[in-house]
Amino acid sequence: MVCLGNICRSPTAAAVLDNKAKHVGASIEVGSAGTADYHVGEGPNPMAQLVWTRAGYTYTHIARHFTASMFDTYDYILVMDRSNYANVARLARTDAERAKVAYLRSFDPALTHVNPDKDADQLVVPDPWGGPQSGFEEVLAMIESAVDGMLEHIA
Ligand code: 4NP
Repeated sequence: MVCLGNICRSPTAAAVLDNKAKHVGASIEVGSAGTADYHVGEGPNPMAQLVWTRAGYTYTHIARHFTASMFDTYDYILVMDRSNYANVARLARTDAERAKVAYLRSFDPALTHVNPDKDADQLVVPDPWGGPQSGFEEVLAMIESAVDGMLEHIA
């Protein structure tokens, strides 16, 4: 899971995927990273953590910077917005690595018809950083739908 700062959206997405995968008995290595290094080594944003904890997810997180070596570790590199997509795709060393990059929300069953090359705006998880708690709750709901679809897809 990849976002910009790796303190709000992508750790929330990793928390949801890790917990839901365990719940259905799927063995998945889940990780997250940011395309910027501003927050490397820090824990999650307190509001993000509060919102995912209240929703029942348990997850420990320390922020990392996205590196090309993560293409070696993970089968899917799931991004939150257009700039994450561009920054990650730029680091892909092969077409096969580039093919691992997708918008997380492209797995939302309600959004599978959206063409990411034409209508990527519809697939964005918006940045909640610095905004009200309701923004973090909206982000969590988007992530939950997408992760449910993702788990169905890989099953
Ligand atoms: P995230 O949110 O990408 O969802 O973790 C942000 C966190 C920090 C910053 C931007 C977005 N920042 O500019 O420090």
